[in-house]
Amino acid sequence: MYPRKDKAAEKARRIMQQSIEDHTADLAPTVDGRKVVLETVDVMRQYHQYDEVVTAVHRANLQVFAGEFVAIVGASGSGKSTLLHLCAGLDRPNSGSISVRGHKLEEMSEDDLGEFRGNFLGMIFQSHHLIPQLTALENILVPTLMCDREEVSYEQHFKRLITALDLADRLHHLPSELSGGQQQRVAIARALINRPQILFADEPTGNLDRANAEEVLGLLLATREELGCALVMVTHDLSIAARADRVLKMEAGRLRPWNNRMDGMLPGYEGGEE
Ligand SMILES: Nc1ncnc2c1ncn2[C@@H]1O[C@H](COP(=O)(O)OP(=O)(O)OP(=O)(O)O)[C@@H](O)[C@H]1O
Ligand SMILES: [Mg+2]
Repeated sequence: MYPRKDKAAEKARRIMQQSIEDHTADLAPTVDGRKVVLETVDVMRQYHQYDEVVTAVHRANLQVFAGEFVAIVGASGSGKSTLLHLCAGLDRPNSGSISVRGHKLEEMSEDDLGEFRGNFLGMIFQSHHLIPQLTALENILVPTLMCDREEVSYEQHFKRLITALDLADRLHHLPSELSGGQQQRVAIARALINRPQILFADEPTGNLDRANAEEVLGLLLATREELGCALVMVTHDLSIAARADRVLKMEAGRLRPWNNRMDGMLPGYEGGEE
């Protein structure tokens, strides 16, 4: 019915497949031929405050495949950000193991982990985390200092990013001189500048109106197709979660497949009890 649209979708799928094959050629496939880029085994993260222990993440087991879009939903305080930070190597678990591309993060020194993150991982934080003394341009380029992958070239990629994110005339502004939405878009450019193989996004559309949220989501999905990167996104927005390959839910630190029978609109879970 829409041959042109179908053709474009088919082309995008082919590009994505090729990108995935290129960057996972060195990984052993699972029995069904997919490649695991992220795996957590029994990951625990507890915070000790006075004589209270808060278990933010309780024995999380997660496998993410190359190019997969996984959405994580859950109530406020259920541990979503904590889990994302652990997976992105920005925090260390109390116990359990986290592997990216088969490399255990807990076996890396802080320096090695920093470089590994720069090479393979991108993170869009819930609250931007831009460096206030640096301009938008400098903030976007910070991760390039931590990346030594030879195939990453910046010039064209950078131009396309700032055009797509409509930042070209804001590059020399400090974060305090930008609107909330512009700060968010700088944070997105920073997360994508090294062409990550896994992109973590913590409510990237949380502070945006519907039109801007759609635009940002469109950009993240297009980037995923182009780079073949996996996308692990925390979101409160069920219409966004519905577009993921798989939806997981955090409940009081426990990660589960989503099985909302009332809703029925979400993919990623084939029967069984919640
Ligand atoms: N640095 C910290 N010290 C102590 N407790 C913490 C710390 N960071 C998070 N927590 C606690 O861990 C739990 C999980 O927090 P987290 O930020 O991961 O939740 P979340 O699911 O991302 O919530 P939201 O949807 O509001 O962003 C909460 O009970 C929180 O109070
Ligand atoms: Mg959070």
